[in-house]
Amino acid sequence: MTVTRPVLRREGVTRNGRPYAIRPSQDADAPGLAGLIDAVAGEGELIAAVPGELDTIEQSARLVSIVLEGGLTLTLEVDGVPAGHVMVQRRAGRHYAHVGEIAILVSNAQRGSGLGRILMEMAIDWGRAVGLAKISLRVFPDNTRAIALYRSLGFEEEGLARREVRMPGGDRDMLLMGLALGGPDVTGGPAILRNE
Ligand SMILES: CC(C)(COP(=O)(O)OP(=O)(O)OC[C@H]1O[C@@H](n2cnc3c(N)ncnc32)[C@H](O)[C@@H]1OP(=O)(O)O)[C@@H](O)C(=O)NCCC(=O)NCCS
Repeated sequence: MTVTRPVLRREGVTRNGRPYAIRPSQDADAPGLAGLIDAVAGEGELIAAVPGELDTIEQSARLVSIVLEGGLTLTLEVDGVPAGHVMVQRRAGRHYAHVGEIAILVSNAQRGSGLGRILMEMAIDWGRAVGLAKISLRVFPDNTRAIALYRSLGFEEEGLARREVRMPGGDRDMLLMGLALGGPDVTGGPAILRNE
C-alpha cells in the first residue's frame, strides 16, 4: 500500500507577529509541556487534569509511550517556547486499532490565532496517512470553544458518557465526538508511520 507522507513540521508567524513552529515532540519538551498542562488545568475544567498532577518524568514517559504505541505527538512552539500540543493515541487491540484518540491544547496566550485548527488538521492528515478509519475525542460538554473547532472540522457528536471523569468538584460527563476518515476497512491494523 502506498502511504502519502503527512507533513509533521510547519513554521510560520502568528496573527500577532510571533514566529511559531510545529514539530514532532521531543523528550526535551516534557518540562515545558508539563507546565503548559498545569497552566491549562489551572484555568478551570477545560481538560481532565488538575494542576501539579503530571511531573516532568511522567510527561516524558507519556510522550515516549504514545510514540511507541504508534501514535502521534506534535509540539507547538511560539518564540521557541512550548505553547501547544496535539496527540493521537492508537487504541490497543485488533478490533479497536482503526481508531485514534485525539487530544489538544493551546496556551491561553496563543488561542484564537488559528494554531489549534492547524494542529488538528495536521493530526487528522497524519491519521489519514497511517490508515486510521476514525478519530475520536472526549470533551467537557460546556467547552464551547473546543466543540466549535471540532464541529468545524467535521467531528460529529456521538453521545454523552455520564459521570465519566472524576474532577475535584465532582464527577463530570464527557461528550464523545468522532470523525470518520473514510479509509479502507483494514485487516491486520493500520500502517505504522514513525514520528520523525
Ligand atoms: C480548543 C483549543 C485547542 C482551540 O485552539 P485555538 O488555537 O484557540 O483555536 P483556533 O484559533 O484555531 O480557532 C479554531 C476555531 O475555534 C473556535 N473558536 C476560537 N475561538 C473561539 C471562541 N472564543 N469562542 C468560540 N469558538 C471559538 C472557532 O470555531 C474557530 O474557528 P475559526 O478558525 O473559523 O475562527 C484551545 O482553545 C485550547 O487549548 N483550549 C483549552 C484546552 C482545551 O479546551 N482543550 C480541548 C479539550 S477537549
